[in-house]
Parts: sequence; structure tokens; C-alpha cells
Amino acid sequence: CGIVGYLGHREAYPIIIKGLQRLEYRGYDSAGVALYHDGQIQLSKTKGKVDDLQKKSKAEISTQGTLGIGHTRWATHGVPNDVNSHPHYSNSGNLVIIHNGIIENYEAIKQELKNRGYVFHSDTDTEVLVNLIEEVKKQEDVKLGKAVQIALNQVVGAYAIAVFDKEKPDEVVVAKLGSPLAIGIGEDEYFIASDASPFIEFTKNAVYLEDEEMAIIRRGKEIKLRKIKGDHIAYPNIQELQLNLEEIEKGGYDHFMLKEIYEQPKAIQDTYRGRLLADEGLIKMAGIDQNLERFLNADRIIIVACGTSWHAGLVAEYIFEDLTRIPVEVEYASEFRYRNPVITEKDVLIAISQSGETADTLAAIKLAKEKGAFVFGVCNVVGSSIARETHAGAYTHAGPEIGVASTKAFTTQITVLTLMALKLAQEKGTINKTQLHEFLVEMEAIPKKVEKSLEYNALVEQISDVYKDSSNCLYLGRGYNFPVALEGALKLKEISYIHAEGYPAAEMKHGPIALIDEQMPVIVIATRKGHYEKVVSNIQEIKSRKARIIAIVTEGDEVVKNLADHVIEVPEVMEALTPLLTTIPLQLLSYHIAVMRGCNVDQPRNLAKSVTVE
Ligand code: G6P
Repeated sequence: CGIVGYLGHREAYPIIIKGLQRLEYRGYDSAGVALYHDGQIQLSKTKGKVDDLQKKSKAEISTQGTLGIGHTRWATHGVPNDVNSHPHYSNSGNLVIIHNGIIENYEAIKQELKNRGYVFHSDTDTEVLVNLIEEVKKQEDVKLGKAVQIALNQVVGAYAIAVFDKEKPDEVVVAKLGSPLAIGIGEDEYFIASDASPFIEFTKNAVYLEDEEMAIIRRGKEIKLRKIKGDHIAYPNIQELQLNLEEIEKGGYDHFMLKEIYEQPKAIQDTYRGRLLADEGLIKMAGIDQNLERFLNADRIIIVACGTSWHAGLVAEYIFEDLTRIPVEVEYASEFRYRNPVITEKDVLIAISQSGETADTLAAIKLAKEKGAFVFGVCNVVGSSIARETHAGAYTHAGPEIGVASTKAFTTQITVLTLMALKLAQEKGTINKTQLHEFLVEMEAIPKKVEKSLEYNALVEQISDVYKDSSNCLYLGRGYNFPVALEGALKLKEISYIHAEGYPAAEMKHGPIALIDEQMPVIVIATRKGHYEKVVSNIQEIKSRKARIIAIVTEGDEVVKNLADHVIEVPEVMEALTPLLTTIPLQLLSYHIAVMRGCNVDQPRNLAKSVTVE
């Protein structure tokens, strides 16, 4: 979910609506807004997108007021409908709240409140929380800030909340545990949001709350930070934001996803800039240099991640083992954290996360730290929870990724992980100078080669038109390109809703081959480097079952061209770097198919960009 709030001298409504649109990547099942004006709370909420909210709210409430909060939701408790949408009132109608996260013990609290006569209108845990705050405030006869603090000490779960009281319309109380919360500090005005994008055009100064911190924000006064447990007052650490407005707008592209696909040459370059020193023949990475012993003494590297980031982890497994000879395991964070894994002080855990906020990945990190492992983060979002929770890390520097389906985050994660593998191989001496030099030169040529791969866009669009009505699709690859096949299939599923499966090309004959008939498009990654002949044999096997074959090949390939129905070329590159190129046409393919099917490419149904609940 995404939250936004404003307290200051401007009209809050347009700031909140625009802010929610920027945060819609965090969830878009439903949306709502509550404003204070003239002694009243004006509240409007609806199932659907922020656009729907805008229409509905303009028709049903006065949109005036200089204090307001808004929410865009990814449903956890209760179906997405108008009633379950946020904000939620307390029973008296005085308090109003927005919440991102989950209150795990809400049932017990709800029962207790019901016994005291409270009535609930929704199925949400949030409505329980706002009434708990109200009850505490009444019972203890305390101010809102204190009531929030006492109430939060009774709940188990994760949250970023903002709440205000109709009786004290110059104050908003916010708190954080698990879910992110940033406070933008302007002149006599404050902005509250899940990330800085809603207020970037108003101020560059922000405070990111730490876990278990709350803030009392008052009109015209300095903000007060407090620990949720205990009364310790903390001084706000005001940071200067690096984000630019252009980075979070579409800049002439129809969709964020397409813009982000096209940003990859630059994003990859930004990722290795300052780290890859081809002239000196070495890699510099501060996070590794400062912790070199931990890496060099590692018995094993465990990579944890979710979704697309997990696929980047799989690519990394190939390259780490190949170059550094350190054993690598790649795990879904959600499985790892719950299976009593064997972790020792000699393990290095690498957590990969675009957002840096994924709840399962964060929990896996905490577990590994408890067991004494050294934890290294590969995140895109600077200052995110994972970036802060890890011992050290390397940012991907891809710039904001807004499209829910991850594109440039994936290729830049692979870039960082490749640099890490090279750096460790260089330190361990498992790569010689010539090999390293060759790698560095090839790596530097990648942005140009990605650009070249993007030139096939029109061809990919034509192919998309042929297959847009398919109901199933199979993606095959081997070696470094097996994870790329998984990622290609995930991309298609996510945004076009076509069922797709990725498989190791050789493993296909142990099952999925039964699915193949003349209706089934099979996308095969068959670049010249890496098991080429084997993949060609796999293509023969599929062809003899009459599948329609789309092959991703190396420029100038003639063999596969004669077998496949369509070929899409990518430039020649060393095997370990092929994923950075073969991914590109697969991204474009899913993009065009989704557009042709009329799907909402940037905000596919049921998904959220950053999953801050487990
Ligand atoms: C969600 C997103 C995916 C993403 C995954 C992991 O499911 O929709 O695109 O790969 O979370 O997110 P992270 O931010 O940890 O990389």
C-alpha cells in the first residue's frame, strides 16, 4: 500500500491525489482520501484506481482543506471494496487513519473492543487499530500522540500509519515499523509519504523514520520524533533527496515499463560507473573492500530474494560459482526464512531487492544476522529498509523503477552481481589478469549492445501481433539463460495474463513437452555461446512436435534461422553476459503483447511493486 499526507498552507487534495498516483505502484486495488475543512472530515474512498477516487471524491466531498491523508491499497484483510478502503474512521468519527502493513493480533483486539461496545464496519485490521487508539485516548485521557504510542505497544505486526483528530486539526501523528515512511519538510509545511516521490517537487529535505519511531507533526512547529517503546526523543536526521522529478515521469513514453526498458543502456552504465576500471584492469567496490575477509573466508554464499530479483540471483549463482569457486545457493526469501535453515558465521548472505522493502527478504536478512552470517544487500532504492538493515551493500543505481513489472532493475542487479563476482575472483585469484581484462572490456560494451538489441523493437512488435491471442507460452533456456527463460515467462504472465512457464531447455522432455502442439508458441534462447548445439537439438525436438518457435539468437546465426518460425537477434557477447542482452527482446515481447491485449501494463491486476507484507 501507499500512504500520503499533507499539513501546511496549500490545498492538500491535489497534493494527495498526485502523490497517490505516484505511489500506485505500491498497490491499486482501492484508494481513499480524508481532508479536514471547517470543523469536518471530508472522506471519500472507492474500490479501483486513484483516477476512480478522483472522480468519486470530486462528486461527493468538498476537496478543500490544508490537512489531509490519502491511501492506495493492496488488499491484505478483506476484499478490495469501498468499505475496506482507507482511510478509516474511529467510532466517534473524530479520528481518521491510513495504514500500510498488517496488524497480526487484530482479532483479539477487535473482540476486546467489541466487548466494550465498539462497532466495526469493515473487515480490516486498520479499523481495529484506529478504534484501539480512540479507546486508549479515552481511557487514559491522553493526547493523540501518547494514545498512538500506547496502542502501538499493544499490537503485533507491521505498519506505517498516519492519523489525525478532528478536534485537533493542526496535528498529524505518524509511526513506522516494517513499512516505510518519509516526512518531507518544507517551509511551514509537512508531507508524509511511503517514499519521497509525492513531495519531490516541493522539498528536497526529508526524514526517513526508523522502525519503532513515531513523529508528531504540528502546523508551524518542528516535528517531534519519539521511540514507540519508551519516551526517548530522537533528533530528526534530515536528509537531502537526490531524486529528480523527470525520473518519476513518463517522459514521452506510453508507459513507464517501456521507458524503463529503454533506459537500460544508461542504467547499466550508471551501475558500473566508478566501479569498473577497465584501464587499470580492476573492479572497485567499497562494500566488498571494507569486508573482504568475510567474503574471502566464506564457506558459502546464500542469495535470497523474491520475484524478478530471485531470477537475478539465479544468474548470479552461475557467475559466482564459475568465477569465484565459492558454493552458492539461491533461495526464495519466503521459503528460506521459515525452514530452519542451516546458517553459520562463515556464510555470506546476499539479499537482492529492487525496492529494498520486500517483507520476506527483510525477514530472511534478520534471521541470517541473528545466526551470525554477514549480510550484503543489492538494492535499488537508496536508504530503503534492506539497505539499512544489511551490514554492507552495493546499490544498483538504476533510478526509480515505477512499472510494476521489473525491467531495468533486473539487468542492473545482474550487472552489480557480475561486478561482485569479478571483484571477488580478482581478490581470490581465481581469475587471471587477461580473463579479467576481457570481461571488463566486454562489460563496457554492454550498453551499446543493449541499444542494438532495442533496435529490433519493431520486429518484436510484429511477432507479438502473431502470438497475442495465445493462451499458453513456453520459455526455454540453458545455463546462464535458464533464469532468463524464467524471467521472460514471469514478465509475460505478470502483464498479459497469458499463462507462461520457463523451463531449462533439456528438462522440457521430462514433462512440459506433453503440452506442445501447433498452438503452443515456444520461445527459445539459443545464443551461440553456451550449449549452443544442445539447444539446437532441443529446438529440433520441439519442432518435430509442431510447436511455433521464436528464437533469440546471436547476430548472423543461420542454423536456428532455418528451424525457427521467427528469430530475434542480439549482438555477440561472452556467455556470462548474455542474460543482459537476451532479456531485452523478452521484455519487449511481453510489453507489446500486453498492450495489444489491452492490459494495464504498468499496473497489472492483483500485483504490487513492493510487497511489504509477508
Ligand atoms: C513484487 C514485484 C516484483 C518483484 C518482487 C520482489 O512481486 O511485483 O516485480 O520482483 O516483488 O521485489 P523487490 O523489490 O524485493 O525486488
